[in-house]
Amino acid sequence: MKRSSRTFHALGLATGLVISASAATADDFELQGDPEAGKQPYLQQCASCHGNSGGGDGPAARAFDPPPGDLLREDLSAERMFTATRDGGMAVGLAATMPAFNRSMSDETIHDVVAYLISLRDE
Ligand code: HEC
Repeated sequence: MKRSSRTFHALGLATGLVISASAATADDFELQGDPEAGKQPYLQQCASCHGNSGGGDGPAARAFDPPPGDLLREDLSAERMFTATRDGGMAVGLAATMPAFNRSMSDETIHDVVAYLISLRDE
């Protein structure tokens, strides 16, 4: 199921089907990450901007306008976090200063990182 949303988009493009964003996404996305496995990649690849806590207060955060933002907000869906991380900020209508990680992280690792971030909400 991990490749599902990308496959879905590719199909939509190839066949010229018009698929609304909600149809292509909401039913389709299922977070499958392991929060423990996501901690290390988060700290290595994300914390410089987003902070060790995910709160948007990493050492590089002040260099960005708009700032990296708080990743622990309850209204941030797992799917949005996954898409922003895999495809970059622009994929969710945000700034390109949020890099795409699709070349440096597997979908599986991105699932893990998102699961880790969600696990931080309760702490
Ligand atoms: C070079 C700095 C930088 C790094 C590294 C970085 N981000 Fe970001 N990120 C940003 C910035 C800046 C934004 C805000 C963009 C905006 O608001 O337009 C952002 C936004 C986001 C968002 C969207 C939040 C929202 O409000 O929808 C998510 C999710 C996210 N980052 C996750 C990650 C994850 C996970 C990693 C590590 C794999 C990561 N980021 C690494 C700078 C960074």
